[in-house]
Formats: sequence, C-alpha cells, structure tokens
Amino acid sequence: MIRSRIATLVALSTLVSACASASSSGDGDAAATPPTRDARTEAAPRAQAPATSVPDGMRSSGDGVYTNGQAQEGAQVFQGVCSECHTRDEFRGDAMAGWDGASLYDMYDLISNTMPESNPGSLNRSQYAAVVAFILDLNDMPTGQDNLSTRASVLRNIIFTRGDQP
Ligand code: HEC
Repeated sequence: MIRSRIATLVALSTLVSACASASSSGDGDAAATPPTRDARTEAAPRAQAPATSVPDGMRSSGDGVYTNGQAQEGAQVFQGVCSECHTRDEFRGDAMAGWDGASLYDMYDLISNTMPESNPGSLNRSQYAAVVAFILDLNDMPTGQDNLSTRASVLRNIIFTRGDQP
C-alpha cells in the first residue's frame, strides 16, 4: 500500500517536472528566438485568408476555370517568349503571394499591356489567356471543361486564391 503510494507520487512528480520543463523550454524558445523563415512562410496563408475569400457570385481560380490544352499552349508561349526574361518559379508558390485576392483580369491586363517587356501587346488575346492558364497550372489549380475566357467581364469575376491549391 505504502509502496504503491510512493510509486504514484514519484510517477506524478516525474510527470509534473516533465511538463514543467517542456512548457518552460517551449516558452523560452518562442520568446527568445526570432521566427524562422519557415515559420513566417507557414503563417502567411493564415494571415492572408480574409483577403482571399471569394465574394458571392464570383469564382475562384480553383474552380476549374481553364483547360489542360490551354495551359499547354500557354506553356509553349511562356517557353518561346517569357522565358527569355522569367523563370517558371517567378510565377508559382510563394512568389504568387502578391496576387492573392486579385482578379484574373488584373493578371491578364498587366501581362497583356506590359509583357513581353520588349514588345508589349504583341501576343493575341488567346495567347495571353493561355499564359494566365499556364500560371494557374504552375500553381496546381484544377482544370475544367472550358478554356479561360479572354473577356474582361468574365476574368473580373475570377479571383486568384492560392488557398485553393490541393
Ligand atoms: C524582355 C524581357 C521580358 C520578357 C520577354 C517578359 N517579361 Fe515580364 N517582366 C520583365 C520585367 C523587367 C519585369 C519587371 C520586373 C520584375 O518584376 O521582374 C516583368 C514583370 C512581369 C510581371 C509582373 C510581376 C509581378 O508580380 O509584379 C509579370 C506577371 C510578367 N512580367 C509576366 C510576363 C509574361 C507572362 C511574359 C511572356 C508573355 C513576360 N513577362 C515576358 C521582363 C520581361
């Protein structure tokens, strides 16, 4: 009886001190060490979540708004024109954080009016839309039945949301 009480106390005190040291070292780390690059990267999507919510009546870039064939055409345009100055990595993942919440029209409009920098507007509308589709593909957005439209009124209602990545 006494032996088992002692055993219980020992077990309890071991548990308590284990918890205490675990929590104090945890607090110490959080207070003393600046956040690592990884921690900031992980925190970013949560912090941006409200900005990327899609208003009623609008679609998101994750709703299957382009086709695989269109993205392949865009990949060829990118390879032939854009890759002279850009890498694919400039248009995927965290590099696209600044586009979160923007409409695909914003993206289409900027690219079609300013790119390629050496000859802005030199591609046709469907080539520019294909490049935007390729950028969606680079970001693992799902494909759908219809090509991404070249119409401003349609593109304005599709919001780029990286949170929809699988
Ligand atoms: C002759 C060089 C050149 C070519 C070709 C070119 N770009 Fe650019 N692009 C630039 C420069 C310079 C900038 C501005 C500086 C920067 O952001 O890198 C830029 C910026 C951009 C931006 C804005 C980046 C951002 O998020 O602010 C996008 C999007 C873009 N280019 C897409 C394209 C696409 C798509 C193509 C192919 C159709 C293309 N560019 C072809 C030189 C070029």
